[in-house]
Amino acid sequence: MTTTVLQLSELSSLQQQLREWRQLGKSIGLVPTMGNLHAGHQSLVTAAKAQCDIVLATIFVNPLQFGPNEDFGRYPRTLAADLQTLATVNCDAVFTPPVDVIYPAGTQAQTTISVPVLSTLYCGKTRPGHFDGVCTVVCKLFNLIQPDIAFFGLKDFQQFTIIRRMVSDLQMPLRLVGLPTIRETSGLAMSSRNGYLSVAEREQASVIYRTLQQTAERIQRGEHDYASLETLAKQVFSTAGLRPDYFHVVDQHSLLPATPTTRQLALLTAAYLSSTRLIDNLTLEL
Ligand code: PAF
Repeated sequence: MTTTVLQLSELSSLQQQLREWRQLGKSIGLVPTMGNLHAGHQSLVTAAKAQCDIVLATIFVNPLQFGPNEDFGRYPRTLAADLQTLATVNCDAVFTPPVDVIYPAGTQAQTTISVPVLSTLYCGKTRPGHFDGVCTVVCKLFNLIQPDIAFFGLKDFQQFTIIRRMVSDLQMPLRLVGLPTIRETSGLAMSSRNGYLSVAEREQASVIYRTLQQTAERIQRGEHDYASLETLAKQVFSTAGLRPDYFHVVDQHSLLPATPTTRQLALLTAAYLSSTRLIDNLTLEL
């Protein structure tokens, strides 16, 4: 049986509800999202439900993490459908603050959180300031909600690594859980931005995951010239009609370029299909 999800938009109602849960000794799992929810988000709520008494999702399209020429204006806002999606996985409550609740003094005046180095690599190079925006809003949500555990999808591998560093550097008292990417049958990683693609483009975009897998297989077979593998992968994307942004073989923990002796690897990539930017990754152990 599915129940309705308690929707909280004001800080006062969020804080009142959190007080009630805490008085009852409930542990709180947080699932931060920007909405337009799909099976990937549902898997986060399901995992949170298994580990916490209460699951609180948030839906907030965070203006601070979008660049001036990015898709903030047209990012899909689908609250009614999202409430139903959350109900099907028995999410307890969802915080849906308006922008001025999160940024009462505006975004320009906002104190920001910046994780050095990691935030400037890969997606951070193409999207300057993006990870500062992510860290700032996630830090605010952690402060406002004080969850026991926060759950994130590993499709955003660099984001998760940066948030983990922020939590460690700022000694935030919570645990983070990263959960595997959920994929379409074609292999395409589920993403709210897939909605920008036609059915044919979704099929075309499946080359991203295939190329990650093929590159991982080559590495497993002993190919360690990572620069050549990166070039080859980008050529495959171009041949399939995508515009590669980056493809890097990195150390899973530091995210710095892997060397032939690195054992725990991550393949990180981003590519454009028309104007839609898609990211994906794959981890492997040698
Ligand atoms: O991954 C996302 O959806 C967003 O970057 C997050 C973590 C909810 C912050 O806005």
